[in-house]
Amino acid sequence: MRNPLSDVVVDIKPSGIRKFFDIVTEMNDPEVVSLGVGEPDFDTPWHIREEGIYSLEKGRTFYTSNSGLMELRREICRYLHRTQGIDYDPGKETLITVGGSEAIDLGLRALINPGDEVLIPQPSYVSYEPCAVLAGAKPVVINLKAENEFRLTAQEVEEAVTDRTKLLILPFPNNPTGAIMEREDLEAVARVALEHDLIVMSDEIYGELTYKGRHISIASLPGMKERTILINGFSKAYAMTGWRLGYACGPELILRQMTKIHQFAIMCAPTTSQYAAVEALRNGDADIAEMRTAYNQRRRYLMDAFRRMGLECFEPYGGFYVFPSIKQFGMTSDEFATRFLAEEKVAVVPGSAFGASGEGFLRISYAYSLEALKIAIGRLERFVEKLRGEGRERRNPECT
Ligand SMILES: Cc1ncc(COP(=O)(O)O)c(C=O)c1O
Repeated sequence: MRNPLSDVVVDIKPSGIRKFFDIVTEMNDPEVVSLGVGEPDFDTPWHIREEGIYSLEKGRTFYTSNSGLMELRREICRYLHRTQGIDYDPGKETLITVGGSEAIDLGLRALINPGDEVLIPQPSYVSYEPCAVLAGAKPVVINLKAENEFRLTAQEVEEAVTDRTKLLILPFPNNPTGAIMEREDLEAVARVALEHDLIVMSDEIYGELTYKGRHISIASLPGMKERTILINGFSKAYAMTGWRLGYACGPELILRQMTKIHQFAIMCAPTTSQYAAVEALRNGDADIAEMRTAYNQRRRYLMDAFRRMGLECFEPYGGFYVFPSIKQFGMTSDEFATRFLAEEKVAVVPGSAFGASGEGFLRISYAYSLEALKIAIGRLERFVEKLRGEGRERRNPECT
């Protein structure tokens, strides 16, 4: 039989996050505490679920238009107007997708010609690079630096740009680091994008989960709406991961092509979820505020615990992740996470799963109850002491 597979697909490495979930599943041990998943521990607020149920009761079980329910697109445009002061046309500049994930894929496929370069700041979400490769792009990684608190600087973009660069992915608030970009950071990057005629794909899925001022979209800066694909969704802010709903807003020229791919590949995003999302946007602000307060409390608890333990960690102001350094222990993040899971039954994700510049760090998700976090921190404290003990023994072998 001939090789039935695509070489491009075969060459893509599976997600590094999965490995740890597979081990946790295999262990099948109720004592394992997982801080690995980037998924809210809250249920979708009841009034949102109710609206989904109601739409089913009403028999709203048909396809919507390819771009999504007009009612939902209007709500999204209202939301972006009230939170960012950006005005999108719900008819021409808005597309409802299957999660932010689909929007990322569509955006790349609609923009890329073979060999175009895409700038991907890392550490960052695991799908950008494979989706860029699948679209035929050459991914160009920008290694974000801990000393810049993992923000993207204009200079880093400037240094990575060539005459083949077409697109900059802007992954903030960031998964896995929790880094945010403030107005002046964005203004500097926008200047480079304008100067070099770059399109920006701004993944703002954690935009509602910031703990220092409000999230600012780069699309709201002068001259940037015309060259930005703004991606967002319902998974994180409204605890709606399983509903699979997201959206893209951007220039009509680009959105028309994204919609074409979506039309052939997907048809439309899930109808029930679209009805529920209308309710989320209309009446969900208080739910977001409540969840944000809980995340913030957990974030502060973790930062205090790391300080007490002597684990270096810059203060993350977005998302629901912390990214402490484990460099002092002289092992890779994969080794650390593997031993921590085997010896203390806590699952965290090695920073290297999010790009080479994540090496030496761990991603710890705080989308878990404070009780679970307290158990995990107790075990981490014990593990860190043990590693320090091993370090001392190595340095003074006669003491053993
Ligand atoms: C940064 C980032 N972007 C996009 C997504 C995709 O989310 P969804 O497809 O559920 O909207 C995730 C999910 O973890 C993420 O962390």
